[in-house]
Parts: sequence; structure tokens; C-alpha cells
Amino acid sequence: MKFVIRGGKKLSGTAPVLGAKNSVLKAMVSSLLFSGPITVTNAPFIEDVFRMSELLANLKVNIKNKGKRTLEIDSSKLWGANLKKELAEKLRASIVLAGPLLARVGKASFPHPGGCVIGKRPIDVFLDGWRAMGARVDEKKGGFSVAAKRLRGADVIFRVASVTGTETLMMTAVLAYGKTILRNAACEPEIPALADFLNAGGAKIKGAGTPTIEIVGTGGRLLKSSRPFRVIPDRIEAGSFLILGASLGKNVKVVNCNPNHLSALITSLKDAGVNLEVGPDWISVKRPKILKAVDIKTHEYPGFPTDLQAPFAVLMTQASGESMIFETIFEGRMGYVDDLKRMGAKIVLCDPHRILINGPAPLRGREIESPDLRAGLAFVIAALLAKGESVINNVYQIDRGYEKIDERLRKLGADIERVD
Ligand code: EPZ
Repeated sequence: MKFVIRGGKKLSGTAPVLGAKNSVLKAMVSSLLFSGPITVTNAPFIEDVFRMSELLANLKVNIKNKGKRTLEIDSSKLWGANLKKELAEKLRASIVLAGPLLARVGKASFPHPGGCVIGKRPIDVFLDGWRAMGARVDEKKGGFSVAAKRLRGADVIFRVASVTGTETLMMTAVLAYGKTILRNAACEPEIPALADFLNAGGAKIKGAGTPTIEIVGTGGRLLKSSRPFRVIPDRIEAGSFLILGASLGKNVKVVNCNPNHLSALITSLKDAGVNLEVGPDWISVKRPKILKAVDIKTHEYPGFPTDLQAPFAVLMTQASGESMIFETIFEGRMGYVDDLKRMGAKIVLCDPHRILINGPAPLRGREIESPDLRAGLAFVIAALLAKGESVINNVYQIDRGYEKIDERLRKLGADIERVD
């Protein structure tokens, strides 16, 4: 499967933002903490959701698509403790499942999680956290097994503010005996969204969204769902559309988003001279006459999101002047630079974390392979900017996190075709 894109067209129209991939996957996993079914609404139908459904179905969790983006997930017949290797390796979020599984059945085994090629993706935060709560961790041929007869609350300090580490250990702690404190926890908005839902089911979580989270465990008693989990708007998808509008927009209106989750990007776009109009749940954007080069440095939330680093770099190839892009979160997230240079971008790779971009540089269409899902979207933006035709292979990576992106881009006037 590939995208064939002919660039150079101005875009205009409305870009509706769907539910966040990095929110829906954790909501699905949280079903293991509940005695009965949970309902998840505003779910995006993306490849990672299908993979997570398969992983859960493998554990006899029953998932029903009720239509209108609503899933009903019932773990009352949960059986097994082993995450299927072929599936778990396809998405990093699979490791999040190990937390509630360990809390629910007392054990979990899983392969080293897969997902993007953006770095070695260690899992020490998870393993150290589970050990602190009394679990035994064994590593054997490329996989792990964790077991605990009785999980006890612990005071855990994260070596790094891991997003999935925070979510996984927060969910593990919900069923533990006693109080857990997570320090240096991640503050991404998907975390309070998850904590609020768990609290509505009877969990006792305080401080989600801040670096210190306190969880008083239920001592093994399962939660009872009292309301649906509404997946929050995908701030990375919204940000990707804003960057697209800043690159090629006559007038693009990004709707069904939460501008409060995008302040770092909005600030950088304004510094670059992009005119934005911000509403309560929409942002309109168009390409300015002169795009100014600005520096960005990725940082944990609420800093500039690492998932928008590659798309923003594409924008900076069209900006006048020199910009420094400093990726502080992952050590392998500059893999897209070579292909962008083959399209004509003027980029110097200073070290695995920093690039210098000089612009504006005209881009020419090329055949490219998307290494990870966010670089994939960056290549779509670059191809829409480039003169001539581009082919983007390995579209599965993009379909992992963006539902029917080609259809939605065509609605904005883009010349993009999905070819088998
Ligand atoms: C989540 O990944 C997101 N994925 C990522 O989005 C996102 O880029 C990342 O958070 C940062 O915002 C999901 O939520 C499924 P981390 P996660 O653990 O949790 C190191 C996308 O495109 N680290 O916060 O895996 C790690 O190597 C994806 O949607 C350890 O050293 O990221 C990285 O350098 C890509 N040990 C840093 O911490 C650990 O045990 C941040 O990683 C865990 C992480």
C-alpha cells in the first residue's frame, strides 16, 4: 500500500480532528480493571486500535463495535496472561496492557514492546516500578514475565518521565494493597483523562497531570464503570493539520480539537509569523507571506511535543533563515532527514538530537518510505509541498495513527491517492 501525491496545491476547508490514538489505547486497556463492561466513545478507527482489539480478544476480552465510534469492552471472561508476540511487537502501547493484567491476574508475560524505530525504547521504568510494588520480573529470550501474588503500594521515583510508564503503573496501582506515589510522572493530557475515568469507576487517584500522582489501591476490588470514556481529541493530529495549514493553507479550519493541548505549537507557529485564529474547539490557519525560521526544542508536556518535531521540521524547510530543531526525548527521531534532503531540503545533522535547517528550499517529489508514523505524516506534508509527484510506501505506519488521512486531505484539496 502506498500514497501517490502530486504537490503544489493550496489547501482550504475544514479538518475534523478524531479521538487521540494515545488516549483510546489506554482506555481499552483499562477495561481489565473493571468487573463489567466499559464504553469508549469518540474512538478513532486506526490500525493500532485494531491491533489492541486483537491483543485483548486474545485474552478473551470481548470487544463490540456499537457503531458511531463507540466500543463496548468487557473483560469479565478474561483468560490468560500472555501477550501474543506477533501482535505485541506491532505497537509500543502493548506494554501498557501488562500493568492491568498483572494487577488483575497476578502475572503478565510479553515480548520486548515494538512500535516505532525512534529509539531503543527501554522499559526500565516499568520493571523498576513493578519490582517496587512487590512483583518478580524475569527476562528470558527477548521477552519478560512479571508476577506478584499481592501487589503493595510503593513510593516510586521515575528515572525519566515516561508517558506509558506513568499510565501503566498508575493502572497497576489501582488494584494494589495500600498507597502508591509516582514521582517525576508524565503530565500529558491523556493521563488525567484516564485517571478521571478510573476515579469515576471507584479508583482513588490524585494529582494526575502533575509530576506527583497518588493512588490509594482498592486491595484487589475491581472497578465498576459509571460513565463512558470519551476519547480526547488527538492533539498530535490537530497539530499536524495546523502545520499542514501553515505550509499550504489558503484557509484551513481545524475543528473538534482542544487548543489548550497545543499551546507550545501555537506559540512556535506564531513566532514563525503564521496567522492563527483560536476558538474554543477550533483553530483556523493559513500560510503567511513570509514564514520565519524559528528554533524548537522538544520537551515533555506542556513543552513542544516530540511527535510534532518531524512535521515542524518540514515546515521550517520553507521558512526564511536558519532554524535549529533539538529533539530531547528520543535518540532515534531524526531518521527522516536523509529523505527530506533527497527532496531538496537544506539540512545539516549536527548530532543524533539536533539538526540545522536553512530555508526556504524548494522540494521535489521523490519515492520515500515512512520509518515511523509521525515521520510518515511529515513526508505527506513534504510531498504536498513538493513540485511533482511523490510516492510514500509503507502507509501502514501512517494508518496506525491517522484514520483515512488520504480521504480527509483530499477534502482539503490535496492531490493524494491510495494505491495498492
Ligand atoms: C508515548 O510513548 C507515546 N506513545 C509516544 O507517541 C510519544 O512520542 C511519547 O510518549 C513521548 O511523548 C504512546 O502513548 C503509545 P516515553 P512512550 O516512555 O511512553 C525513555 C506516537 O507516535 N524511556 O515517555 O513509549 C524513552 O526511551 C508515539 O504516537 C526509558 O528510558 O514514551 C524516551 O527516550 C511515538 N525507560 C523517553 O523515556 C522507560 O522505561 C520518553 O519515552 C521508558 C521510557
